[in-house]
Amino acid sequence: MIIAIDGPAAAGKGTLARRLAEAYGFALLDTGLLYRAVGMKVVAADGDLDDEEGAARAARALRPDELSNPALRSDAAAQAASKVAAIAPVRAALLDFQRTFAHQPPSPAKGAILDGRDIATTVCPDAEIKLFVTASAEIRAKRRYKELLDRGLSAIYARVLEDLEERDARDKARAVSPLVAAPDALVIDTSAMDADRVFATAVDFIKSRNVGE
Ligand code: DC
Repeated sequence: MIIAIDGPAAAGKGTLARRLAEAYGFALLDTGLLYRAVGMKVVAADGDLDDEEGAARAARALRPDELSNPALRSDAAAQAASKVAAIAPVRAALLDFQRTFAHQPPSPAKGAILDGRDIATTVCPDAEIKLFVTASAEIRAKRRYKELLDRGLSAIYARVLEDLEERDARDKARAVSPLVAAPDALVIDTSAMDADRVFATAVDFIKSRNVGE
């Protein structure tokens, strides 16, 4: 069984994905990390984020152990990820890894949860459960701002909002696998919901589909 979770940055996908993975005993893949790792590899090599061939080479050479680097959580990595994510050969190079994880999750997991931007539309259109988690840009920026302060980092709210809107616009406008809700996805607007309510909404939906037992 596959649960696909898509949506814009800082909408609550990661928190929901972790809670569902724990509740159902499923393996979890945060697919944003793949794009972040490719983006950072290009930056570290002093490369050009618009160089399609260089970015595709970095994507093809990516190893799973490169996904645990804490630097991937930075905003610089997020912006680099969003840029290389618009390059078709980069997306193609990452597709097999994601599909293999979804269909043959590491044992003993009985299923897989993938979160990203195009899981329900491109990576796993066959997923039994599709969730599209979203919230207003202001709410998402506020959450991201608070998270940065909680981590002891300095941040300016207006800048956080601007970065987030810039990344959303790029992720939605790209020609290949843009961010869009699958027609059969449950859309969860988390603007006025806490994490418990988001989780309960997703669990109700999974139960209503008679899967995951
Ligand atoms: O989910 P995230 O913030 O870690 O994602 C970073 C960037 O990677 C995001 O701005 C767009 C890209 N991405 C993508 O294009 N497709 C995915 N499945 C996941 C992430």
